[in-house]
Amino acid sequence: MTVQTAKMVTLTINGQQVSVPAGTLLIEAAKQVGVQIPHFCYHPKLKPDANCRMCLVEIEKLPKLQTACSTPVSEGMVVHAGSPKVTEARNGVMEFILSSHPLDCPICDQGGECHLQDLAHEYSGQYSRFKEEKRAFEKEYFGPIIEKEMNRCIQCMRCVRYCDEVIDSNALRGMDRGNMTQPGTFMRQELECEFCGGCIQICPVGALTSRVAMYDYRPWQLKKIETICPHCGDGCLMKVESRDEKVMRVTSEQGRGRNDGDLCAKGFFGYQFINHQKRLAQPLIQRSGQLVPISWYQVLPEAATRLAQIKARYGGAAIGGIITARCTNEDAFVFQKFMRMVLGSNHIDSSARLGHLNAVKAFRRVMGSARMMNSYEEILQADLLLLIGADVTETNPILGIKVKEAVRWCGARLVTIGPFQENSGTYISHIVNRANLSLRVKVGTEGMAIRGLIKAVFDTGRGDASLQNKAPGYIERLKKAAASLSYEMVERITGLTETQLREVACALADAKRVVIIAGEELVRAQRGDLDLVNLCDLAILTGKMEKVGCGVNVLCKEANGLGMVEMGAAPEYLPGLRPVTDSTAAQQFVSAWKDDLVLQRGATALEMIEKARRGEIKALYLVGADPLSVFPRSVGVQEALERLELLICQDLFLTETAELAHFVLPACSFAEKDGTFTNQEGRIQKVNRAIEPVGEAKADWEIFSELSRELAYPLEYADAQEIFSEIARLVPAYQKRFGLEAHKKERLASLERYLAQGYLEDFEERYGRDQNVLKQDPAYPFTLAMGSILFHSGRLSLRSDALLKIIPEGLLQMNPKDADGLSVKEGQRVRIKSLQGSVEVKVFPNQKIPEKVVYFPEVFAHTGMKELFPLGLHSASGVPYLKTTPVMVEKVH
Ligand code: SF4
Ligand code: SF4
Ligand code: SF4
Ligand code: FES
Repeated sequence: MTVQTAKMVTLTINGQQVSVPAGTLLIEAAKQVGVQIPHFCYHPKLKPDANCRMCLVEIEKLPKLQTACSTPVSEGMVVHAGSPKVTEARNGVMEFILSSHPLDCPICDQGGECHLQDLAHEYSGQYSRFKEEKRAFEKEYFGPIIEKEMNRCIQCMRCVRYCDEVIDSNALRGMDRGNMTQPGTFMRQELECEFCGGCIQICPVGALTSRVAMYDYRPWQLKKIETICPHCGDGCLMKVESRDEKVMRVTSEQGRGRNDGDLCAKGFFGYQFINHQKRLAQPLIQRSGQLVPISWYQVLPEAATRLAQIKARYGGAAIGGIITARCTNEDAFVFQKFMRMVLGSNHIDSSARLGHLNAVKAFRRVMGSARMMNSYEEILQADLLLLIGADVTETNPILGIKVKEAVRWCGARLVTIGPFQENSGTYISHIVNRANLSLRVKVGTEGMAIRGLIKAVFDTGRGDASLQNKAPGYIERLKKAAASLSYEMVERITGLTETQLREVACALADAKRVVIIAGEELVRAQRGDLDLVNLCDLAILTGKMEKVGCGVNVLCKEANGLGMVEMGAAPEYLPGLRPVTDSTAAQQFVSAWKDDLVLQRGATALEMIEKARRGEIKALYLVGADPLSVFPRSVGVQEALERLELLICQDLFLTETAELAHFVLPACSFAEKDGTFTNQEGRIQKVNRAIEPVGEAKADWEIFSELSRELAYPLEYADAQEIFSEIARLVPAYQKRFGLEAHKKERLASLERYLAQGYLEDFEERYGRDQNVLKQDPAYPFTLAMGSILFHSGRLSLRSDALLKIIPEGLLQMNPKDADGLSVKEGQRVRIKSLQGSVEVKVFPNQKIPEKVVYFPEVFAHTGMKELFPLGLHSASGVPYLKTTPVMVEKVH
């Protein structure tokens, strides 16, 4: 590997010599010698615009002052960044800016952290020479959650540039002229955008502020704690800022965290669930059919006694537990230990079962780990990015920003394959807009597209030649499978032509650094685990599995979906993804925990529901899990829950399921506890307590620990750190807390095993006849697809008023042509019917959605939409499939 080093340039700034890479801007070089050059329009994330003139510096041999934010260094340059001439110029710039700035610092939310305030202090003169009236903008609102106060605007255009260059939303533009220039929306319409909050954060003054907590605090009153966002697997670092134990806002800092200071709408605006008035503040117990408050002191022994009775009467296998992937690793670890050791049950599962388990199964098998193979930095270095079934802005917006950056600014080529390939025509940055090649497949057929690509790799002779020696059996078998597939069949199923497949196959094989990213359309497909193994085959075949900068990656929807499984909150895995049936692996835990383990695979979430319905499971312990809102009633959830002798719900809110519980235990949100989340890359990141627990809520692990004491099997820990130490002792990948290297060796060994024999398992099923082509019944001409949307994830986001102001309800997205065909307009109602039932819903035309497909945001599925789906279950991974179903759609008159 050749390491390219940039040419270094030496210059002098304020008498100090500095050497920096050629191309460095003066303002950045100055920082390296501790010289802070004042600026407004400059921001390290943005291209230079040099519009404010605040950064003027003197450069010897140049007749005029130059802007440090746009002037690159050159050899021998001598710069004076604080000379009298420079100071005089800056004072002039400041005087000019202040000439039209209102004196409303006392009521401005930016007061105390305002760039203008800070620099005015340093650079303004005694009085202003401007006698003219200050400009006055009419009051305008920028939509429901962003405040626009243009009298404060200093016209730096950072907001407009951020929205374009980083978010790629392009919702803002510079409007009007001269002194009245301002950022605005096209035709002054209400702001419609990704609501990432970035323009608020990057505005150096108080011209753009959040309406969510206006005038509620002064910035210096806030306690600021860095922690990790709980809304998705991207793992963004954020600052939770609170006053009097109430979260007032969330911010982030450029240069910090995997997100480098960027957030999405959920991260920036989605925190209100923390202090929601309906948070459970004390334990509840069911008495005479009513949930009534009870103290912790009473509830713990009562709940423990009931658990003990059920265990004694029916055995541990009569108890099941499900935990949400929004809990920390420490919560999950203690929970599985509680279930396994204290209650003697392996019926333990997490919300990762709703999809991510497909990825875990597939990737563990091929690579020994489900972590991303490429870091976010490697995405930026890729030559070619292949996104398959990944509407990345909607599911994982910050990873989406990395992809956009790679394509727009680092020269990567982008190929996208999936059903939603048309420009959405909205201000949500649809990733296909940046694709060099975007291939639309029919809904749910990405798996067949992968098989078509494998065939095309063989047919174009682009396969990795070294495989012939390394894995002759594997390559022969794959070649045979590819030969038995016809392009006609692939086209009939997916819509992709032979030419398209060959083009992508060549691109994949020919590019040097190829990063493949699979998203939820593939991960949560009915054959998700099988198709993902085939995707690994494609990478292996093109030589893109082991090479530096190459790899296959899968997006994780939930904040700690990966951590849940790695902690053993799954019926088939002990901590560290070790199979529960592997007695050698189990022995390590037996000796660490000094007790026996049940070495039998337990039931998955849905199997637990079924067992409860049959009366085999008598008690369920649900930690943030709400099966009534997740699974269709047709699977008998209500009946199952009502049949239980004991239902314990530990949650932040009284959910639909919790209303049926015998015990309701109030749990802390992420903001009230310490611990760790493992993001999709496999980075173990620290979650820090930002506020005291709401009411009497406790950290989940503390509740398990206290119950265990009541059950005379104490799992005692002083704090989350002590739990983490135990995790690190038992799970090697957690010893290197922030590194990705831990699993690399294991990965290569696993790949070797796969190429030798591992691929044979289920080969026929993977490459045999595709069972899952949706059969279109003329009576049900549409395909209903369900999936993620940018503004919500999980039920917690539905408790955040700001996010509800953006998207208050689930709208059925359909192609405008279909909407015209049905004579429905935005907001009008349609009836949507499947073999399972029917619901009425409002329509939102969106040209991103292909014709004859309708798309509904899964987060609102509890409103009735989930009842339209027949629940499929993949037998190997136990992942329930609620992704697509044939429907008919008619206008409601
Ligand atoms: S997407 Fe919206 S919130 Fe984000 S920078 Fe653009 S205008 Fe601001
Ligand atoms: S609103 Fe803020 S960021 Fe945008 S141009 Fe005005 S001062 Fe600059
Ligand atoms: S939801 Fe995901 S992308 Fe958005 S801020 Fe949170 S972790 Fe980052
Ligand atoms: S910061 Fe250099 S011109 Fe604005």
